[in-house]
Amino acid sequence: MKIGIIGTGYVGLPTGAGLADLGHEVVCIDKDENKINILQQGKSTIYEKGLDELLSRNIKNGRLKFTSKMQEGVEDAQVVIIAVGTPPDPVSGEADLSYIYAAAQELALYLRDYTLVATKSTVPVGTGDKIEQILRENAKNADFDVISLPEFLREGFAVDDFFHPDRIVVGCESERAESLIRELYAPLAEKGNMLFVNRRSAEVIKYASNAFLAMKIHYINEMADFCEAAGADVAQVAKGMGLDKRIGDKFLNAGPGYGGSCFPKDTKAMAYMGRQSGVNLSLIEAAIRGNDLRQAKMANRILSAACDVKNCKIAIWGLAFKNGTDDVRVSPAMEIVQQLLRNGADLTVYDPKAMDNAKKILQDKVKYAASAIEAAQGADVLAILTEWSEFALIDVNALKKAMRGRKIVDLRNLFATCALDKKGFAYECIGKTTN
Ligand code: UGA
Repeated sequence: MKIGIIGTGYVGLPTGAGLADLGHEVVCIDKDENKINILQQGKSTIYEKGLDELLSRNIKNGRLKFTSKMQEGVEDAQVVIIAVGTPPDPVSGEADLSYIYAAAQELALYLRDYTLVATKSTVPVGTGDKIEQILRENAKNADFDVISLPEFLREGFAVDDFFHPDRIVVGCESERAESLIRELYAPLAEKGNMLFVNRRSAEVIKYASNAFLAMKIHYINEMADFCEAAGADVAQVAKGMGLDKRIGDKFLNAGPGYGGSCFPKDTKAMAYMGRQSGVNLSLIEAAIRGNDLRQAKMANRILSAACDVKNCKIAIWGLAFKNGTDDVRVSPAMEIVQQLLRNGADLTVYDPKAMDNAKKILQDKVKYAASAIEAAQGADVLAILTEWSEFALIDVNALKKAMRGRKIVDLRNLFATCALDKKGFAYECIGKTTN
């Protein structure tokens, strides 16, 4: 099947490479020519485990191509997938749909034979109707269906998630579209993981899922605060709760708050849609408020450990918004680093994958280290902000030797069970009173 994908970001690129690997002929389209040049050489423009290999394999076998010209990617395509960004308005939280509408306008110029247009970008309810209207007005004789095909890939695990989806949700109201989608995903459709619903329901499923997970994280973070006050241990509480299959054991890791380009954006967009519809989405509103406050609270925790912040060297482990990615967009770690800087902190930072992206933002305001131990060299306080496994596997004796001080503030509970206090460190984690 011939497929055109508009947008080569964290959603479009793994999806394009994955579909090519399933045997389809895929053309990925992006306006950024520089990006296209890099991708044409088989190099990924984002860090995503397994993606480089997937790209080069499918470029070599001729099933995956890249272009900056929309026409080349869509004119023969049976399925066109829209995967452009929908960034939030900084004040209202409303999703900015200008890239979506611009893509639809341009696509309309090249629609001829029957084409299935699928929206993978996370878009507010009713956007499918608007895309359809744009196409009808601008491609009067074209034959097409517009469906919603929400994406559930996690950054850092996108390749694995692509090939092992929990679910494939399709918002579609035409039999022709349904049979094309069944063909598209045939190798991945198993055990009843395909769900066909109406288009608006599919659009809601995406937001409702992300908002629910964000609320779950906010809930465990509040429980962590309570555990600290009550002398309990949130990791044990999460384990006990998670054994109940109705609750589930996932997304119960307390930390510095949820971040990334999805949860903060999608919770705000969902709350905005609720307000616009006159519906009070109070739980989502509470999660947004609580999460926004959490990073300031965590920065203060590090500042308290530092005592005299101006004469204290702080090592920072982790800048990405979570492990497995180079993405620092809306990263709690980056927000905490910037709050520490505003308080005059002297910081040396290290992240296994996100250094280049972080440098664009932090520039010369911090020192950069080439390894976790190098960052800890001479530090009075070590703050762990992202849950990279290489931090958990660190040689504790080498760490002790490197640091000048003994304080560790672990916002990801990487060392929560390894009794660092017994090794001479003053160790503080989340959701457990350690001293
Ligand atoms: C999220 C969803 O998990 C995907 O299903 C969805 O497709 C994607 O958004 C999207 O809308 O595109 P992602 O943003 O990659 O994926 O990140 P998650 O793994 O969900 O983590 C989000 C944030 O929550 C991170 O900051 C992470 O550290 C935090 N988190 C996660 C916790 O603090 N505790 C947890 O237990 C889990």
